[in-house]
Amino acid sequence: MTQRGYITPAWRKLGELPEKRYDVVVVGAGVAGMTAALSIDPSCSVALVSKAELAESSTHKAQGGMAVAVGPDDSVQLHFDDTMRVGQGACRKEAVAVLTAEGPAALAYLQTLGADFCRDGNGLTLTREGGHSCHRVANYYDYTGRHIAETLAGEVERRSNIEPIKGAFLVDLLTAAQGCCGCLVEVAGRLIHLRAGAVVVATGGYSGLFARSTNALSSCGDGIAAAYRAGVVLSDMEFVQFHPTAFTTLTGKAFLLTEAFRGEGALLLNEARERFMPAYHESAELAPRDVVSRAMLRETERQGGGSLYLDARHFGKDYLVDRFRQVYAELAKNNYYMERDIIPIAPAAHYTIGGIKTDLYGRTSLPCLYACGEAAATGVHGANRLASNSLLEGVVFGRRVAACINGSRVSTAVSGALCEGVLDRGPDLELSVLQSRLEAAAGVVRQADGLSSLLSTLKTGPKNEPGAADRRGYQASNAGRLAALLVEAALLRKESRGVHYRTDFPDKCDADAGKHTLQQWGKEAVLA
Ligand code: SIN
Repeated sequence: MTQRGYITPAWRKLGELPEKRYDVVVVGAGVAGMTAALSIDPSCSVALVSKAELAESSTHKAQGGMAVAVGPDDSVQLHFDDTMRVGQGACRKEAVAVLTAEGPAALAYLQTLGADFCRDGNGLTLTREGGHSCHRVANYYDYTGRHIAETLAGEVERRSNIEPIKGAFLVDLLTAAQGCCGCLVEVAGRLIHLRAGAVVVATGGYSGLFARSTNALSSCGDGIAAAYRAGVVLSDMEFVQFHPTAFTTLTGKAFLLTEAFRGEGALLLNEARERFMPAYHESAELAPRDVVSRAMLRETERQGGGSLYLDARHFGKDYLVDRFRQVYAELAKNNYYMERDIIPIAPAAHYTIGGIKTDLYGRTSLPCLYACGEAAATGVHGANRLASNSLLEGVVFGRRVAACINGSRVSTAVSGALCEGVLDRGPDLELSVLQSRLEAAAGVVRQADGLSSLLSTLKTGPKNEPGAADRRGYQASNAGRLAALLVEAALLRKESRGVHYRTDFPDKCDADAGKHTLQQWGKEAVLA
């Protein structure tokens, strides 16, 4: 029987817990999870597990749009080339080919379900964002993600084969001889055993582990941590994308100011009210996000502190209020008016590229366990994600996971006994302390001393004592474990590539170009 980790000893008493059976359990109700659930054969019973209401996810917060090669001056090849270039030699070519080729069909799928995208007399009003060589981003004003999430959620509610289980927290994945055979979830303090023939993890990323993040609070990588404990291979955990233009609200939260502002001509200014990006990159404000985030750190250092600003005053009030209605309203609540004020900004953790290693159909290293969306590491983003490729990824790979499940024989019969394991409480560190330390050591800029010192704080082995007993405890354990994995991966990659920038290794190492960090329970992490 395979040794693996659990966060709670409850697996020992599985027979005593309430049990529900489904053909498929999808964990996570963002764009990837909902697309997967909706695309599974309607003759299958599907549980759609979500931490909150269906439409409350990081998808819901995505503003910019969905990149797709449908413009008159665009092509799948051009979208492929841009994604590969921005990915800095670390993309998996086959995954990028799938993503870009299936983009137009993904867009059409959403439109079939009723999603709308802004248009003018000539068709979709595609916008441009950093790293794109043409206008390619289909959008619904500045709340594309929310609109897509609401469209998908409406369809989920209409499907009789999908049972949403809301307010449910994924505690552990369960495994037996055939692979994944279900999961334990906690709902209102009670543990429930969901038995299933296939489980899809679409729980999003781990940007919420950083002190400043544009993500939903729920983005703490719980699904990735559960997969790791189940012995599943993780990949690319060091790659964390920071979004350059996040505003700090009066409540202290980082609020995203979509890259579409820069795509449509907004400028970045320093304390002297001068543009600084042209000095750092030939694409100036439209350089890829990693370049802009690092340039912002350097510019702040150069000017001896102070703020940097986004300037969209020249857009005019009418345009701002219509096109950027969500952002305009949020800034107004904070006493900033975009036609009048330049807006103070700073980078914030936005998207995590690493996660559960999958193939092109979302299959993981554990049979019957699939992953898609931000929780997955398909290799599609390489070392830096091209703007607005993430909603696209959710739809394309959500559909592919479902296609794969539809083509296989799904059975809820469990072969043999459940795999036993050890308890993994993860390192003990209060979440806010962990967030600040991670931000300092593994943020936009990293170096060995900071990473090593954090890793030694975080690295504690599995404990043979009862695991954390409630949701807060589970989350704290997951956060500690994932932070340790991220830092370990960042130490392994002794070079700078894309979003991973190390001052002690400031250049790319050619020999590491096609290599990925791989981490698995009970095994030494490798860069291979
Ligand atoms: C944005 O609107 O800038 C975010 C879109 C993305 O993360 O791709």
